[in-house]
Amino acid sequence: MNPTRYEDLPRTRGLPLVGHSLAWMRDPIGLPQRLQRELGDVFVHHLGTSHPVVFAHPDAIGDLFADEGGALSTAAGWRPFFGRLLPGGLLLRDHDDHRHHRAVMQSAFAPAALREHVRVMNERLPASLDAWPRRGRVSAVDGFRRLTLDLAGALFLGAELGPELDALTHDFETLAAGVAAVLPVAAPGTALRRAIEARERLVAYLRPRVAARRASPTPDLFGRLCEAADEHGRRFTDDEVIDHTLFLWMAAHDTTAGSLVMTAYQLARDPAWQSRVRDEALALGEVLPWDRMHESPSGELVAQESLRLHPPVGSVPRTTLRPCVIGGVALPAGVPVRASILLAQRHRAVWSDPDRFDPLRFAEPRAEHRRHRHAYRPFGGGAHACLGMRFAMLQIRVVLHHVVRRWRFGLAPGYALTLRPTPGFRPADGLPLELSPLAPRP
Ligand code: HEM
Repeated sequence: MNPTRYEDLPRTRGLPLVGHSLAWMRDPIGLPQRLQRELGDVFVHHLGTSHPVVFAHPDAIGDLFADEGGALSTAAGWRPFFGRLLPGGLLLRDHDDHRHHRAVMQSAFAPAALREHVRVMNERLPASLDAWPRRGRVSAVDGFRRLTLDLAGALFLGAELGPELDALTHDFETLAAGVAAVLPVAAPGTALRRAIEARERLVAYLRPRVAARRASPTPDLFGRLCEAADEHGRRFTDDEVIDHTLFLWMAAHDTTAGSLVMTAYQLARDPAWQSRVRDEALALGEVLPWDRMHESPSGELVAQESLRLHPPVGSVPRTTLRPCVIGGVALPAGVPVRASILLAQRHRAVWSDPDRFDPLRFAEPRAEHRRHRHAYRPFGGGAHACLGMRFAMLQIRVVLHHVVRRWRFGLAPGYALTLRPTPGFRPADGLPLELSPLAPRP
């Protein structure tokens, strides 16, 4: 069959200049789903100044991740988001350059490193959770944000809780706010200017510590990047270590915190699943050790289902470098494209009752995620598939373990969720959770 011509694709109509940006801000799940119903599995989406071709079918998503012939640029896709503040990260690199950097970085995510991270998470979490109220209301967004920042201090930098970590965390959040800033202007007083200054302070903190870490290695990610080498013994330069450390921190933070928030939301609405996860956690004991993860299968199912319904990276951007065919569409060079992970993970051709929270869809005998190789891609695929996938899943499960052992949690009667794009999904009101402490065990 001849490919569809790019010019013949259905296009959304929106307001002049802003397109659908405002509608998307108001309803980041409902709007793309409506467009898919009206226009089909591939359409040109008018979003502000960018008009990407959005692919929603898992077949097309597979094509995009495979990128046969290297016609797509990941760097050009992500540059508008990260280019200014985090230019050296893996998503800002293409093809051979990317392969080299990823090969060096891989060793920092080896099983021995992950095992150590799980140990540190279990050790650090009780102190971080002490900051939550014993009973009453907590904002899930603030609570999990703070928690993941504390953990990142230990896991990424090897920093202890205290004023030094508070200052680093503050700079990191300022940097993150700059990445998300709508105005790409660095005038004094703007979010972007503050982010550039915060980045300078973070670099000034890390730079003198690279040599120290190279001389005496530490098991945090920063220390591991100082040590990391590929099979030919090639290592990162000091600047590269710093760039990658900051980028990893950024890639990890919003995504992991966001998944915890949305998982807490699902469990707050579903006391039966919350009890299943808690029963396993109570049987396991105070910590969830690396070699006993399999004893909390419900935690795994719940995390998977939450990432299906609310993928923290809702779509992944690419730009065509030369003419190519993706998902049956002939695209010219220079076109922005997006794989909609969100739409594929709720695609009616694959999933039964796709908008429903139903963790058992991931268990045998249903195993719906095996119906199509590319229908479940919260961590992307192909050459740029998430390097922190196991790290993230472990963190989500260890955090859940500690939270459900301390509290039962629910939502106020009649609570209605409103989401905002971050570009993942964030409850507009911070998601107020009602905590009640578990009675001490006999
Ligand atoms: C639930 C949490 C997370 C989700 C849903 C997630 C999702 C993703 C996705 C979809 C991509 C692919 C982007 C693309 O192809 O354009 C990606 C890439 C990446 N992620 Fe994650 N991520 C998570 C957590 C983490 C963590 C914890 C780390 C590090 C500790 C991390 C590090 C990275 C890196 C370095 C890349 C770029 C890989 C490359 O370009 O080769 N992520 N992530």
